[in-house]
Amino acid sequence: MGIAADLADDIAGDWHAALAALAWQVEAGADEPIVDAPVNRYELSVEAPKPAAARPVSQAVVAPLAVADPVDLARAAANAARSLEDLRAAIVGFDHCDLKKGARNTVFADGNPAARVLILGEAPGADEDREGRPFVGRAGQLLDKMFAAIGLSRTSPDAATALYITNVLPWRPPGNRDPEPVEIAMMLPFVERHIALVDPAVIVVVGNTPLFALTGTKGILRARGNWTMALGKPVLPMTHPAYLLRNPAAKREAWADLLSLKARLS
Ligand code: URA
Repeated sequence: MGIAADLADDIAGDWHAALAALAWQVEAGADEPIVDAPVNRYELSVEAPKPAAARPVSQAVVAPLAVADPVDLARAAANAARSLEDLRAAIVGFDHCDLKKGARNTVFADGNPAARVLILGEAPGADEDREGRPFVGRAGQLLDKMFAAIGLSRTSPDAATALYITNVLPWRPPGNRDPEPVEIAMMLPFVERHIALVDPAVIVVVGNTPLFALTGTKGILRARGNWTMALGKPVLPMTHPAYLLRNPAAKREAWADLLSLKARLS
């Protein structure tokens, strides 16, 4: 390599080294370029900071507005509801859960609000989304038969033999996927208010989602049949009727759970 080439290499090397050093200084917080004459900072007089001149309103620094937590908004809307009709309107008007955008209907509830038994399901499926009522598809038909076997019905006008049915989520999750914890948390204030307004004697949670929503625990196959408490009410966890359609052998245990409910009510 000739002398000229060596020199060019050295200059290029220096240039890269200088750039790296500058980058390091910027990274370390240096924010003043080198000035023409040296400055002795110790000789500079220390002046009291001048009060900032008032800015015109147009230049005022505006603090960003705090974004409201959808769970807080849901709780405020739910707690303001004085009746089931108020609550239905509050849910229909709640725009913070994306599931609403993909749903045809808000599925609120079915049955007799005077019922002693409130059944809490998961979320509407395709049939429920179309009709706007909970548990009207195949799983719903099985649910009706199961509870009819112990003398309970959603169409009964008599509180002693009536059922009231609702879901954790009022909107169908796309493709019937499992509800996300964030969706459950967002809609839980409405569920809690719903239960407070209906004030049933007992709650039956069918499946994992309502079990998790009310008790914070998972594992319906372990929990089923074991009475627990939530929101000050006795709660009976049962397997979801859709699970029973896929696993008919589990109907024997579901029957035992229904008998346990019947005994509790009498
Ligand atoms: N499954 C549910 O959990 N709820 C319904 O309304 C329908 C199916």
